[in-house]
Amino acid sequence: MTAIAQEPDFDHIIDRRGTGSLKWDRYAGRDILPMWVADMDFAVCPAVLEAMQQRLAHPIFGYTRATPGPAEAVLAYLEKTHGVTADPSWIVWLPGMIPGLAMAAASCGVPGDEVMTFTPVYPPFLHVPKDVGRGLVAVPLMLEGGRSTFDFAAMEAALTPRTRLVMLCSPHNPVGRVWTRAELEGLADFCVRHHLALCSDEIHGDLLLDPERAPFTTGLALTGPIRDRLIVLMAASKTYNVPGLGLSFAIIPDPEMRRKFQAAKNGLVAETNPLGFAATEAAYRHGEAWRLALCRYLRGNRDFLAAQLAKYCPQVAMAPVEATYLAWLDVRALGLAHPAAHFEKHGLGLSNGADFGAPGFLRLNFGCPRSVLEEGVRRFLQAAAATP
Ligand SMILES: Cc1ncc(COP(=O)(O)O)c(C=O)c1O
Repeated sequence: MTAIAQEPDFDHIIDRRGTGSLKWDRYAGRDILPMWVADMDFAVCPAVLEAMQQRLAHPIFGYTRATPGPAEAVLAYLEKTHGVTADPSWIVWLPGMIPGLAMAAASCGVPGDEVMTFTPVYPPFLHVPKDVGRGLVAVPLMLEGGRSTFDFAAMEAALTPRTRLVMLCSPHNPVGRVWTRAELEGLADFCVRHHLALCSDEIHGDLLLDPERAPFTTGLALTGPIRDRLIVLMAASKTYNVPGLGLSFAIIPDPEMRRKFQAAKNGLVAETNPLGFAATEAAYRHGEAWRLALCRYLRGNRDFLAAQLAKYCPQVAMAPVEATYLAWLDVRALGLAHPAAHFEKHGLGLSNGADFGAPGFLRLNFGCPRSVLEEGVRRFLQAAAATP
């Protein structure tokens, strides 16, 4: 299916209050617009919903393993969209991405060894290594021409004899970068030279806002010795707005890496679920036209937000968002002691940069109807104007 009968109506407002939504229920009963946790306020792709409804028609929901369908759909999608081939045996299904990050960290080295990651970053990257007894080597990204990139000199300096793994967010949450092939090759070379494994979290890899200018390169496209030390984590969950279904997967080309990764499940990681498989297979098989329409809509939202801030609040710098629906805002010039609390007080719920390792920054989720974003921007500007 390449066309959709009707353009999806991303402008349509759906009331999510009272559905147990993490995003909305945090502020239940208060006039605070939630633009924090990373899910979108859009209905799912009709093909995904249909596949789930079909699965619901069978009345038993026992422990479920993947049938060949989801892997076939993933592999066909990867080949068509990202130009890479993989083998079904390389796939390890997981009940979410965070368990995958934990398994990657636990499968490299032994307790007391270290994981390197790049800050600011999605908070679990900072916690998961510690949860599995690993140390954290956090290296700040550096700014080059207004864009964040890897600071190889700082990485060399921070490395210790116990560093075993680099945990990469690709594209990067929260700075919105889509790493270029050259950047990824540089990182792969760094890993190989220092005998490090590379875990690439690509949950945002299909939310591309400028695919012509900033095309996505999956870790699976890397060649050479890095392939023996590579764990790629993917999911349909962010792109197709089904993160609550908890299904993701790892693709690990090397059998020994895969064996260690699976062993790290260690009785702690839950089963995968049948609706997650139905949604994932349908998304990769039939979701492409919907995904492209979504990315166009999100691009419009990003451009609107960037233009409003540049015009009415130039003291707040917004990083160029090449992928994701998350804007990373530098609000240090506003001189706020507690920026997230200040914006909450003015009716806007944003993610606190301090949780990502960057106090003075805020993350704004623009995965919502344009009119909701307009209201969010109105509140943002009001709050920004009401600073000490
Ligand atoms: C980079 C990244 N990885 C993982 C996750 C969480 O994935 P899951 O809900 O499947 O654990 C998120 C959610 O925002 C994310 O942004």
